[in-house]
Amino acid sequence: MLKKILIPIAISFAFPNFLIGQGMWLPMDLVNQEVNMISKGMKMSASDIYTANRGSLKDAIVHFGGFCTGEIISSKGLVLTNHHCGYSAIQKHSSIENDYLKNGFWAESMGDEKPNEGLYVDFIISIEDVSDRIFPLILNGLTEKQAVDSLLKSNPTSGESIRVAIKSIYYGNQFIQIISQRFSDVRLVGAPPSAVGKFGADTDNWVWPRHTGDFSMFRVYTAPDGSPSDYSPENIPLVSNNPLTISLAGVKEGDFSMIYGFPGRTTSYLPVSEVVQQVDVMLPIKVQLREIVLNTWDSAMRVNPMVKIQYASKYASVSNGWKKWIGQMEGMTASHGIDTLKMRQKKVIKYHSANHENAFRAVDLVDEFDKQISSLENSRKSIIYFQEILRNWELLTWSRLANDLVRLSDKGNNIDKAIRALQSFEKNYDLELDRRASKNLVNEWINAGKEDTLLNVPIQYLKETDAFVRGLFSPHLYNSLPLNSNKYSDTIVVELCRNHLAFNLWTDLITKYRSVFLESRNKERLFESGMKEWMNLHMSAARASGKILSADANSTMRVSFGEVGGFSPKDGATYNHRTTTDGILNKYIPGDYEFDLPQGFRSKLESRDFGEYADFDGKLPVCILSANHTSGGNSGSPALNSKGELIGLNFDRVWEGTMSDFYFTPERCRNIMVDVRYIMWVVDKYAGASRLIKEMKFAN
Ligand code: ARG
Ligand code: GLU
Repeated sequence: MLKKILIPIAISFAFPNFLIGQGMWLPMDLVNQEVNMISKGMKMSASDIYTANRGSLKDAIVHFGGFCTGEIISSKGLVLTNHHCGYSAIQKHSSIENDYLKNGFWAESMGDEKPNEGLYVDFIISIEDVSDRIFPLILNGLTEKQAVDSLLKSNPTSGESIRVAIKSIYYGNQFIQIISQRFSDVRLVGAPPSAVGKFGADTDNWVWPRHTGDFSMFRVYTAPDGSPSDYSPENIPLVSNNPLTISLAGVKEGDFSMIYGFPGRTTSYLPVSEVVQQVDVMLPIKVQLREIVLNTWDSAMRVNPMVKIQYASKYASVSNGWKKWIGQMEGMTASHGIDTLKMRQKKVIKYHSANHENAFRAVDLVDEFDKQISSLENSRKSIIYFQEILRNWELLTWSRLANDLVRLSDKGNNIDKAIRALQSFEKNYDLELDRRASKNLVNEWINAGKEDTLLNVPIQYLKETDAFVRGLFSPHLYNSLPLNSNKYSDTIVVELCRNHLAFNLWTDLITKYRSVFLESRNKERLFESGMKEWMNLHMSAARASGKILSADANSTMRVSFGEVGGFSPKDGATYNHRTTTDGILNKYIPGDYEFDLPQGFRSKLESRDFGEYADFDGKLPVCILSANHTSGGNSGSPALNSKGELIGLNFDRVWEGTMSDFYFTPERCRNIMVDVRYIMWVVDKYAGASRLIKEMKFAN
């Protein structure tokens, strides 16, 4: 007994108990994790996951449109990603007669698959540590940016579709070069109805138990010779040598799982005072400002079906962040995350205090951080106010689009695109609703600015501006917006825009925002260079005990691994690792916009014809939980089993664990995936798209 207790204590002295179970690893660094992964049940080698110039799992992973992840699941370039990642493509092909969002869409043949202008996927060819080429340049006096530019210029690899990027990781302590290839003919192949793909919508977003079939399918096309090409009718499906294999065997508690994709941004190594400021000061402001907008929109969406359609997507996007941030604040408290982060910080300091070279540097650095962070508080707050106002005051969006249009027209350029952008804004704009929402929002801003003059609220400007005086408190400004641009000739639209009271609103406010932003820029830079040193201190402390820390996410390709499993969100409650279609039928509310189900789908579920897709107990699994460290951008990432076979599709995290961006703990941080068997059942048994099933490779 005594021995058992002593061992972990001994280890925790040797290695500050940093980040067990946490990590988003660069694929080429997985060799260092191999032993750990195998001990958790993995039955592959690190080189099966990533090898630069030989076939490996990485060949099947794509950065989807730069904002999501996708994976190749057939030798003919079929891509699986989330419904919410394909949403705008699906929406663009939808019309009243063919409402693919509502009814779903399944191309009957390849000829029927729908091109999407502007959509692309990037394949990663190689990722390489180029620190030893960057640092000498920096030592020679170049800035980081100059050093990166100079190395990029000397690179012979770039070609038309080949892209070379150099990114800083570990806050500038390492530089990696990423070579990728872009394919820009990506066609929509299939999507389930939103009642499946978005089941539970905003109410269930970030929530477990979850029953969303959040998937859609696309296909990559190439020129006849296999090279990347923009859309052309001559193009052929991409020939892929390494598509993922699909496993219908299912998962159970404790199984090894991993997520391969492109997480956007995490901040796991911030000084504690910075996390406290983010969580206690910045998040509440953002939450409060979004609440104002969401409440106003919601009250109209509930009574007006037209507004419901116009604002559903905007509402989802504003509420997605809002809900996550509340989860982060609560999760941080419930998990006592700050205490743990304080302990980690102390351990880094302690390690370095015992180390003569850096004896007091860590303590000094933390002191400096504390001072910098409190002196940055006001500018950070004002930036947040500006960003939220610029984003959610829709009149400003109109003003920005109107400015784009007028500028292009004055230069004599083609204005078709700008006109289309304005028209698509108008289609989903309710001026009276924006008037009400922005009145509350801007009033909140002004009041905050009156109470705290350091917030840089342009009160005087807002008061003096025509737009404000005549508009915000009277409907005139809004009612006079030229919102029917399709009724007038382009030249008239340009003049109507130019002469409207709100025309300059965007330019004026963005200029003020920029100056606030620039004012704090130097202080922020100082903080960033402190972060570089701080990260370095973390890394050297870890290295001393043979550990490597994973770099914070920055939209580069990463792998995280963990175990399938539920957890206890609070005393007395447990979450299973699996939900089934029984839960869909339980949640069903006829006529409700979030929980309604098409009759045909419901009866298919009720008939329980689950075939080979059923779990061991005859039920059809819908979503599964795992303790993989993921973040925004991991949407659409494949969930893979110990042999690298596809078992699910990542699309969310549990609310209780969203603070994982600051502090990951396997006790309550879980990513949510659609079980691949549910996806296959929908494609096969519900949509009857057997031509797609035939393309795929299933594990036997
Ligand atoms: N929470 C997921 C993510 O961050 C899904 C968002 C889309 N769904 C929604 N209801 N807003 O992207
Ligand atoms: N839904 C998120 C996305 O679009 C993934 C959830 C998360 O933030 O982990 O990337």
